Amino acid sequence: MASAPSHAPAGSLVPGTLSPERTVPDHIDPPDYVGLAEPPKYTGPDVFDNATVERIRRAGQLAADCMVATGELIRPGVTTDELDAFAHEYLVQRGAYPSCLRYRGFPKSICTSVNEVICHGIPDSTVLRDGDIVNLDITAFLNGAHGDHNVTFLVGEVDEQSRLLVERTHEAMMRGIKAVKPGRPINVIGRAIESYARRFNYGVVREFIGHGVGPAFHTGLVIPHYDAAPDYGQLIEPGMVFTIEPMLTLGTRHWDMWEDGWTAVTRDRKRTAQFEHTIVATQEGAEILTRPSA
Ligand code: MF3
Ligand code: CO
Ligand code: CO
Repeated sequence: MASAPSHAPAGSLVPGTLSPERTVPDHIDPPDYVGLAEPPKYTGPDVFDNATVERIRRAGQLAADCMVATGELIRPGVTTDELDAFAHEYLVQRGAYPSCLRYRGFPKSICTSVNEVICHGIPDSTVLRDGDIVNLDITAFLNGAHGDHNVTFLVGEVDEQSRLLVERTHEAMMRGIKAVKPGRPINVIGRAIESYARRFNYGVVREFIGHGVGPAFHTGLVIPHYDAAPDYGQLIEPGMVFTIEPMLTLGTRHWDMWEDGWTAVTRDRKRTAQFEHTIVATQEGAEILTRPSA
């Protein structure tokens, strides 16, 4: 048997074909942006009371449980559309709306980002191959709250360089989470992420950001993943809820957009990984709200 190559192959991904639109049963309340070209402006807070945090925690836990179950299907030969179909059914069977579906016109229920896709890949007929990496970004809207979570998975036998990228991107996210303390500026999060990524010469994508989340999918609060000081000096407060979702690359941090207007790929087509948790700032630090129940 041939051993896996130690270096990641250059990407040559092309768009596949979309399956018909999926439906959500009438008894599930859709978020307010469904049917609109863009979401209504959110004017509420980014700091929430315990009852609201609990609702976000439930949505986050469901997104995380869905992640575990959908992740178990990942193997060479599966299509990204099959992963979308499974995650869609998983969420709606549990009374949740898949937040991505029809958000700003996004056509599917989760994002599936393969190899050189930085984020927002659209599930389609693309077949996962041995040696690929794939990110699933799953957001559940339950009882009026969104929980937003993403994980990069290995497909079969993956080269060492890609494997390390995935492992270290997870570590970068965890370092960002550990930097969260009340009274610190938001820009400490990106500083922790970028200084870790720099050790390995990884690119840190700037234009896609962490965000406030809860009653709205994106509240307007911005969490950069690079050192943006002196900008983003707003202080972290207990009860603040937001995502931390760094995207690291094996080469350039710059990107191109596919004609679909969603799929962002690295300009050099080298691989990229991402992880995301929704967190709440506490008196001591941060609590992750996108944890699976078991
Ligand atoms: N879940 C993504 C995020 O982390 C947003 C996806 S928007 C979509 O913010 F429309 F592409 F689904
Ligand atoms: Co997010
Ligand atoms: Co997300």
